[in-house]
Amino acid sequence: MEIQIVSIIGAGTLGSRIALQAAISGYQVSIFDITDKALDFSFETMKKILAQLDKGGHLKENPEKILSRVYFTLDPEKAVKDADLINESVTEDIELKKKVWKQFGELAPEKTILTTNTSYLLPSMFADISGKPSKFCALHFHDVFYSRVVDIMPHPGTDPSLIPLLEKFGRSLNQVPVLVKKENPGYIFNTMLLALIGAAGKLLTGEVASVEDIDKSWMVNFHMPMGPFGILDSIGLDTAWHVTKSREDSASKAFAAHLKTYIDQGKLGEKTGEGFYKYPNPAYKDPKFIQ
Ligand SMILES: NC(=O)c1ccc[n+]([C@@H]2O[C@H](COP(=O)([O-])OP(=O)(O)OC[C@H]3O[C@@H](n4cnc5c(N)ncnc54)[C@H](O)[C@@H]3O)[C@@H](O)[C@H]2O)c1
Repeated sequence: MEIQIVSIIGAGTLGSRIALQAAISGYQVSIFDITDKALDFSFETMKKILAQLDKGGHLKENPEKILSRVYFTLDPEKAVKDADLINESVTEDIELKKKVWKQFGELAPEKTILTTNTSYLLPSMFADISGKPSKFCALHFHDVFYSRVVDIMPHPGTDPSLIPLLEKFGRSLNQVPVLVKKENPGYIFNTMLLALIGAAGKLLTGEVASVEDIDKSWMVNFHMPMGPFGILDSIGLDTAWHVTKSREDSASKAFAAHLKTYIDQGKLGEKTGEGFYKYPNPAYKDPKFIQ
């Protein structure tokens, strides 16, 4: 099977990036969301990323040509009618994702490979409700442009012949595919990342150190461009809150409550212009930050 037409469900932070990278890589892409506002955000996000890539000389075609391969739609039927592959990137909420997979499992043609970009949920939670469990697999991106690992994580009922197709598809999107041999919440990298974020959250809520000093410790010792709180801002504090609040331990609960105070003020991180830091010029990007 040749993947040519890609459909992205959810036009937020990640959906927009995956759709754009697919268009840059030559695929025809449709991207679906439930509000005009979300599609406008997606279009603006894509334009911004394309301008940066163009400035750095990383594009083989002009941005308009690339964007002409992306079809933005509020119509679920049109979104998936010819899709060879669907990647779902809706909000990290199990009930919402179940609803979405019931809807799109019914709408998708027989041929379509169904994939979820969930960060911490498992494909087996949605495979049956999609109605096509053998076609269902997790295909999880990180940031797409800066962090280029893509996790391929089948559930026990996934048709094994999908794995090489997804590896090939991942490589065609300029990603490095890795196979998660059995279902694991957080795949490979996020399992390690969660341990880091959890420790950073515990240091902050336990009033052991400030956001800045926690980030500096990580950045200086590991020669990293950002620390755990800069990472959280780039992920989105709402996404981080969904993950953190579902954990049972008291440190995670305390950190989830802390994240909620930001969310209640509309501070969701980079995407809203403010989270732990202010954007587009967060303090940690200033060379003086780590002096
Ligand atoms: N943010 C990250 O760094 C990151 C990285 C990898 C994976 N993910 C995963 O990607 C998914 C999306 O995360 P995000 O950060 O892009 O979130 P986001 O909040 O930026 O975007 C979610 C989008 O889903 C849309 N949506 C809500 N209900 C919908 C429905 N019924 N149908 C279609 N769209 C609907 C929202 O309108 C919104 O545009 C989550 O599962 C998350 O865990 C996120």
